[in-house]
Amino acid sequence: MHNPQLNKHGELQHLLTLDGLPREVITAILDHAAPFTEVAEREVKKLPLLRGKSIFNLFFENSTRTRTTFEIAAKRLTADVVNLNVSTSSTAKGESLLDTVDNLCAMNADMFVVRHAASGAPVLIAQHLEATGRDHIHVINAGDGRHAHPTQGLLDMYTIRHYKRDFGNLSVAIVGDVLHSRVARSQIAALTILGVPDVRVIAPKTLLPTGIEKMGVRTFNDMREGLREVDVVMMLRLQNERMAGALLPTPQEYYKVWGLTPEKLALARKNAIVMHPGPLNRGIEIDSAVADGAQAVILPQVTFGIAVRMAVMSLLAGQ
Ligand code: NCD
Repeated sequence: MHNPQLNKHGELQHLLTLDGLPREVITAILDHAAPFTEVAEREVKKLPLLRGKSIFNLFFENSTRTRTTFEIAAKRLTADVVNLNVSTSSTAKGESLLDTVDNLCAMNADMFVVRHAASGAPVLIAQHLEATGRDHIHVINAGDGRHAHPTQGLLDMYTIRHYKRDFGNLSVAIVGDVLHSRVARSQIAALTILGVPDVRVIAPKTLLPTGIEKMGVRTFNDMREGLREVDVVMMLRLQNERMAGALLPTPQEYYKVWGLTPEKLALARKNAIVMHPGPLNRGIEIDSAVADGAQAVILPQVTFGIAVRMAVMSLLAGQ
């Protein structure tokens, strides 16, 4: 099967993963997002680029930031947004995912924003739409299992570019529960595609997927060593809900070794920025003094996320 993200003209039809996207496509999305940050500062925070379009937010897993920022982004583009409350929807009565999708297509959906615990659910929907000839409908992956979270990866790249300008000579460290993290996978894909020369992954051995070096990263099992002289520290949440067994000691012990404290952050470059996709586990992977400190750009990430999601949605479906 051909790349399900591209339509027959080779244009982006869906955003399912960042893996394999050309650098120009990623750069174009980041460039496209920049003017949307200004829309947020206007009294009337609206542009008519998606006027009359129906967007369905299908979140089969919990979310605060991602669901809300997708909704705000769609509304700022003048789309009509419907949030399906999955816990009270018919999937809770046993309806299949694709039956749900077919019913929403019968309501003339133009776009689905999908979060699902199963890796591959958004791809499945995209293939189903293609197989049934509904190729005017777009799918955006808002996080699937451990697989990918492409808009998070993109908003992270936007944030890095905002503070560091250029990707060409950066050292970036991704720290924590890489094994269960779709965010880490999308970040690594984006950083390597954009040509960041030094991408480090810092994690306990039990939370590192085997063969991760093949993605073009260096691995560290010692946080102090890994953080030395980096420009960007990207923290990950400990994904307790995805851990099958006891991969870790207690949260207190994790914090002692792997928590980002001011003392460990001091090993990075003086002007290093600290990022986190949220939700934060304060006192587990990050100390409050760091999360609320001068180097943290965690809340700007959220704000930039709206502009980046506006860019993706308008590039996929805008007039
Ligand atoms: C992440 C997610 O759900 O993948 N959060 C987010 O989208 N901002 C990361 C996480 O849950 O740890």
